[in-house]
Amino acid sequence: MIKVTFISADGDVQEINGVEGQSLLDIAQAAGQPLEGTCESQMACSTCHVIIDKDWFDKLPRSVEDEEDMLDQAFFVEDNSRLGCQIFMREELDGLTVRLAEESE
Ligand code: FES
Repeated sequence: MIKVTFISADGDVQEINGVEGQSLLDIAQAAGQPLEGTCESQMACSTCHVIIDKDWFDKLPRSVEDEEDMLDQAFFVEDNSRLGCQIFMREELDGLTVRLAEESE
């Protein structure tokens, strides 16, 4: 199991277990987190926007240009924003911490 901590815009904390290969978006939705994922991971929306904890951001594979383009259209984007549907669980990410942007609430 790979543990991910979600922090809501209000500061509520929920720890969720995922499995290798699962996307961050899938884990979030399975646990009832308010991430819509409208385009079903096609990188055609930004409703899966999450803000990665600074300590973890550099441990993720870099985003591709299409992901950057979608993030440009999201609200409340920060330097360490990513699309949750493009982050896939692996053992090294055990303990990953992400925050939801205000628009997700
Ligand atoms: Fe649409 Fe991630 S679900 S970009």
